[in-house]
Amino acid sequence: MTEIETDRLLLRRWRKKDLDPYARLCADPEVMRYLPGTLTREESARQIERFVYHWERRGYGLWAAEEKAGGEFIGFVGLEHHDDWPVDEHKVEVCWRLEKRFWGRGFATEGALASLRHGFERLELPRIISVCDPRNTASRRVMEKAGLTFRGRVHWRGYDDVWYSADRRGWLEPGGGPG
Ligand SMILES: CC(C)(COP(=O)(O)OP(=O)(O)OC[C@H]1O[C@@H](n2cnc3c(N)ncnc32)[C@H](O)[C@@H]1OP(=O)(O)O)[C@@H](O)C(=O)NCCC(=O)NCCS
Repeated sequence: MTEIETDRLLLRRWRKKDLDPYARLCADPEVMRYLPGTLTREESARQIERFVYHWERRGYGLWAAEEKAGGEFIGFVGLEHHDDWPVDEHKVEVCWRLEKRFWGRGFATEGALASLRHGFERLELPRIISVCDPRNTASRRVMEKAGLTFRGRVHWRGYDDVWYSADRRGWLEPGGGPG
């Protein structure tokens, strides 16, 4: 499994001890405000199992994100394949979810950029999407800062969302990706 270091983050494999901070993160109503709802500890544990299975099955996935400076788990960022994405055949999404006390310092954007670079350069994906609730202004801003472009609205899994995307060719060109 590929691990990635950015200036301030270590994107690494999941460890058993990540469950405590991950369960805390997913039990926080503010973090989960624009997601279907908070999770119990058991649901968070099942999610981590699903993330690990996704890595094994596809060779990429969501990394556990650690702040290098303090060595603390801060959440996840990475790439997830959605079999049921309804728009077209480009079904890999760049996603993030961070603990609140780490918001507002550019970590989501830093992790998203590393994930997109990995997806385009190493995995050679032609297109990467990102999806969120239209009211999730912070995530939409992260999408824009990471060089994704607004594509429209989509009804998916019972929710009305907005989606963004970036194409490999454009994103990797000088001046074509993030601003
Ligand atoms: C979305 C999230 C990851 C952002 O993390 P972050 O590390 O704070 O993001 P960044 O610092 O890289 O960038 C956030 C940007 O949104 C802006 N922003 C934050 N809250 C905002 C708000 N309420 N309204 C407008 N802009 C907002 C910030 O100012 C920043 O933009 P700027 O650099 O131009 O000033 C974090 O809020 C989170 O984990 N949310 C809960 C989970 C979630 O919703 N995940 C996505 C689901 S699809």
